[in-house]
Amino acid sequence: MGNDTVTLTDNATGKHIELPVLKGTDGPDTIDIRNLFKELGYFTFDPGFMSTASCESKITFINGKQGELRYRGYPIEQLAEQSSYPEVCYLLLYGELPAPQQLEKYNQSITHHSMLDEAIRRFYSGFRHDAHPMAIMVAVVGALAAFYHDTMDVHDPVAREIAAHRLIAKMPTIAAWSYKYSIGQPYVYPRNELGYTANFLRMMFATPTEDYESNPVYERAMDLILILHADHEQNASTSTVRLTGSSEASPFAALSAGIGSLWGPAHGGANEAVINMLEEIISSGKGLQHYIDRAKDKNDRFRLMGFGHRVYKNYDPRAKIIRKICHDLLAELGANNPNQELLDTAMKLERIALEDDYFVERKLYPNVDFYSGIIFRAMNIPMNMFTVIFALARTVGWLSHWMEMISDPEARIGRPRQLYNGYQKRDYESLDKR
Ligand code: SDX
Repeated sequence: MGNDTVTLTDNATGKHIELPVLKGTDGPDTIDIRNLFKELGYFTFDPGFMSTASCESKITFINGKQGELRYRGYPIEQLAEQSSYPEVCYLLLYGELPAPQQLEKYNQSITHHSMLDEAIRRFYSGFRHDAHPMAIMVAVVGALAAFYHDTMDVHDPVAREIAAHRLIAKMPTIAAWSYKYSIGQPYVYPRNELGYTANFLRMMFATPTEDYESNPVYERAMDLILILHADHEQNASTSTVRLTGSSEASPFAALSAGIGSLWGPAHGGANEAVINMLEEIISSGKGLQHYIDRAKDKNDRFRLMGFGHRVYKNYDPRAKIIRKICHDLLAELGANNPNQELLDTAMKLERIALEDDYFVERKLYPNVDFYSGIIFRAMNIPMNMFTVIFALARTVGWLSHWMEMISDPEARIGRPRQLYNGYQKRDYESLDKR
């Protein structure tokens, strides 16, 4: 057959089928196995989705071997250098860079959706003060469905856009209020004259007792962090949002599920885990090699947090960009900043790991989370807020994928099958016979 099919032969029966090869505009081709079960009676088995394309998408492209990342075709390096987070949000949501009046209209819409219903303030006070802000964010984002569900027809493009703008606009307020609640300070309301990132930092750090002085270095660093974390193809949390949304659940419920997935230390929770690891290395006095050896020990669950990636088998392009932001920020803060020892330890760990055969052979390079935690520390952002900020940044990515999935006329509920290896059929034994 032509080179747009592959032939699969079942050696047990001699039966074979032709499977179509689907070609994208970049990246590996895919074998369309949708008729495999019907025609040959087999499922495929790929529990970690190492070789499985779950969908078609036009949003983000990653080349793990080359260490490339592009949003709607634009390389992340160019967007980090020349764009802003609001403009990147527009690009991810609508597929094109905005003209000035389009960006202005988008910014106006986001600005005017940034407040939360006052009833949600009472929602926060139901949590203990030491509740992890991610636990609060999971709950509050899901609870937004209680405020907007009746205006949410997921098949109405206008309703979808309003819901997306509401979520993008409210995440900084939800995140900042989670922080304020955890430190017992009064909530700070968004200001319409401020830009997105400046508004977030002000809601995080302003207090009623004095005028808040914004720091342009922090604003630029935070805007870059948000750009770098905005989307990343079909990662665990984005796949969670797609699967949840495929049942036609509201985007509030789908994003709440995505936030829960991102929280894990193997995914978005890694930046918090990196700092915990660096602090343990410093305080234990056991030296870096002790931890490198533990990370290599198959019998030890310890892993070097911030290293490795399912897709990148080269340096994470975001890590390269964020490494420079990290150095520039700490240079700006001067040598007296309390995080210098943390950065020095991180740099030594990076150098040792990159020369160690175990990491080199497995292509385990520092990922984006390795440096973001240090930057947040330098900006006096508490560790339990690191993943909250990752979730804030990734909201636009989750929504872009949700909109792409739900607006696809061929969209169907996601329902994987399994390889069953439990008991075969057996009869019930009454209690007196067990
Ligand atoms: C993010 O998917 C995304 O795009 C995610 C993300 C995004 O933007 O959405 O990029 C954000 O989640 C980045 C990753 C953050 N997580 C961490 O930094 C946690 C530490 N990293 C590991 O848990 C791990 O590397 C993963 C989870 C990131 C990737 O796991 P994989 O692809 O399943 O790799 P693997 O577990 O199969 O590892 C392959 C080998 C194994 O050794 P062998 O069995 O071959 O002997 O590498 C080893 C692993 O033991 N290994 C590590 C390691 N990561 C993998 N060994 C020590 N330290 C590590 N960090």
